[in-house]
Amino acid sequence: MKSALFFLIILMPAFPAFARQPAGKLPDPLVFNNGQKVKSDAEWNKRRQEILETMTTQMYGTSPERPEKMQFEVFDTDKNAMNGKATRKQVTVHMQEKGKEASFDLLIYIPNKAEHPVPAIIGLNFLGNHAISKDPGIKLTNARVENSKMFPCAVNGKATEACRGTNSRQWPLDSILDSGFALVTMYREEVASDRKEEMFRTGVHTLFPELQNREDNFSTVAAWAWALSRGMDYLETDKDIDAKKVAVFGFSRLAKAALWAGATDKRFAMVLSNESGAGGGKQFRRGVGENIRRLCTVFPHWFARSFSRYMDQDQELPFDQHFVLALIAPRPVYLATAQGDVNSDPEGEFETAKASDAVYKFLGTKGFPGTVFPAVNQSVYAQIGFHIRPGGHDVTNFDWIQFLNFSNLHLQQ
Ligand code: GCU
Repeated sequence: MKSALFFLIILMPAFPAFARQPAGKLPDPLVFNNGQKVKSDAEWNKRRQEILETMTTQMYGTSPERPEKMQFEVFDTDKNAMNGKATRKQVTVHMQEKGKEASFDLLIYIPNKAEHPVPAIIGLNFLGNHAISKDPGIKLTNARVENSKMFPCAVNGKATEACRGTNSRQWPLDSILDSGFALVTMYREEVASDRKEEMFRTGVHTLFPELQNREDNFSTVAAWAWALSRGMDYLETDKDIDAKKVAVFGFSRLAKAALWAGATDKRFAMVLSNESGAGGGKQFRRGVGENIRRLCTVFPHWFARSFSRYMDQDQELPFDQHFVLALIAPRPVYLATAQGDVNSDPEGEFETAKASDAVYKFLGTKGFPGTVFPAVNQSVYAQIGFHIRPGGHDVTNFDWIQFLNFSNLHLQQ
């Protein structure tokens, strides 16, 4: 009897086996795992927990709580930044856990003209805080900077003066400030390395080594999302910012992180996702564009190890990305896509918006008004927003105009 029990235990999978869904049948966020329909707000709260558990264990991995100790060091305040238009602050977020330490910097621009406290947009950047503007007051990052063909400014992996403002085109600071929003940003490499050769061994991952030793490990997308929440911890202490009106923004892999941040942390009032694609807003079930096999082999650190069990099962997944939007509901979310970004399957992002409408309506909002795929450059929105624009994988002024309109509508009343 004892040995039979022993065999039972070691043969049991680490996670409950989730039933494969027949191809084409999208799992319903408003139906419990046991098949019962969600009928009340109280039931929705329970179902939301079930969805959170599914997405955590099966895809994004487990994130820690707040670190044992945190300290915010405001090491720079310039009330006259951008010729007096903004106040620039730079803050090091110091974290300690069981004697280990890690930190990353926040770069913040607050419009001087607007009435304080102001709403804000927070997002991770690809190339370093110094790359979003030519402002010479911005600290050059000490973290690794890759030398791309387009921006060959780093020397031996280190940022140089030539790296200032190399990414400013994607961060229209003036327009953001003119719309009355503060901008808060942080560099992905300071938070957690995006190089698979050093995955989980840098930044915030060094605080929680025990979270790697499991199938639902603390992934890199989850670490980026977690750091956005630590940024929010700081914003709650800053009297110039209205922490109840903070939108979380991201582009591409960093939009995958923004969506997960919105899903896991209800303090974010809104999510702005720019071409998040696979593992972001795109519906896997369609089987179009980047698939789970590519995600889990080319970028093995982005999602938890458990997710790789679904390679080649994109169309039978027991969940899909509308579950992430269901976790964000009823808070507003915008999915921006581009015609040339076929890898991220714009129609697949549209399908996710459509499939999320029911939860948003159940929670008393106007949901998503899109029924047919819109023409290019037409923003379709209520509580969920969507557009497709011409061009490729990028963040353009058109994208930002829609994000700012949407943010104005929901956060500036
Ligand atoms: C790759 C990857 C995408 C990702 C993109 C990016 O193209 O396949 O999933 O969104 O990189 O982050 O730029």
